[in-house]
Amino acid sequence: MKNKYIANGEISASEIALGCMRINSLSSREASTLINTALEEGINFFDHADIYGGGKSEEVFADAVNMNPTIREKFIFQSKCGIRDGYFDFSKEHILDSVEGSLKRLKTDYLDVMLLHRPDTLMEPEEVAEAFSILHSSGKVRYFGVSNQNAMQIELLNKYLNHKIIINQLQLSVTNTGMFDSGMNVNMKNNSSINRDGSILEYCRLKDITIQAWSPLQYGTFEGSFLNNDKFPELNNKINEIAAIKGVTNTAIAIAWILRHPAKIHPIVGTTNPNHLKEICKASQIQLTRQEWYEIYRAAGNKLP
Ligand SMILES: NC(=O)c1ccc[n+]([C@@H]2O[C@H](COP(=O)([O-])OP(=O)(O)OC[C@H]3O[C@@H](n4cnc5c(N)ncnc54)[C@H](OP(=O)(O)O)[C@@H]3O)[C@@H](O)[C@H]2O)c1
Repeated sequence: MKNKYIANGEISASEIALGCMRINSLSSREASTLINTALEEGINFFDHADIYGGGKSEEVFADAVNMNPTIREKFIFQSKCGIRDGYFDFSKEHILDSVEGSLKRLKTDYLDVMLLHRPDTLMEPEEVAEAFSILHSSGKVRYFGVSNQNAMQIELLNKYLNHKIIINQLQLSVTNTGMFDSGMNVNMKNNSSINRDGSILEYCRLKDITIQAWSPLQYGTFEGSFLNNDKFPELNNKINEIAAIKGVTNTAIAIAWILRHPAKIHPIVGTTNPNHLKEICKASQIQLTRQEWYEIYRAAGNKLP
């Protein structure tokens, strides 16, 4: 597994990360097999959130590895806060409470990274800044980031924060390509030209913010994987054709497609199946050509101008 340097080189993360949203459905033994498979494959970066499984996912993780201070050092832990039951909450109190909850459930003294999960339009950035300063100076959070934010929202936060935003976690798969489409359809009259994210791809590259791709194998929002799915015959034919050439499975090709982008995007994969995870990790050993990348993009129904 190749590594990816984030936070201006201060974090050396595996270039594929394991998302732990679904591990609340696993037994401790199943979760242990999944996490050990990840470690054996070279994954050291694990994505959590206070709300995954209502908090159970973080607990299952800690129990599955028998968390202790020595084992803790094998992992880079990222968690998130700000989504509550029916509303978003970036208040200082909620950010501080949420991190305390994650630390307790993960049985650790610190998070490597903490992300604001989804924009709260009632956010007061001064409060967020205060919360981040308290968390950083107490050693409870090392780095901060956001998720699902556009360029100007990050600029607004940056006006007040004493800490750099190092990550923006966004939905991205070959069937959810908004951040690529608008940049290739500038000044056109088609739907793909609509810039819905404030040029977030270019903004993050300019500001050295790592983009993380959530749901890299799914279409819609949690509608299921596009892989081996009859709704996407052309895409699967193309992916399978390239998989045969490269000697890997279709799963690896779908992740290699994200890794191929020079923005050094960090896929957060959500499988709970150790065999799927092994297939995914093969993506780190191959590189798609420019032509193959565009062929897959077009096979998903995306049109070039
Ligand atoms: N920031 C946000 O707003 C946000 C939102 C959603 C998710 N996330 C993060 O992103 C992570 C990934 O999201 P996700 O779980 O939706 O992503 P995903 O990796 O795109 O999807 C995983 C799902 O696809 C299934 N799948 C079907 N065929 C597969 C194959 N051949 N290989 C691998 N998986 C296959 C998996 O089933 P099996 O388990 O059977 O393999 C699993 O149910 C989450 O765990 C979470 O950490 C963040």
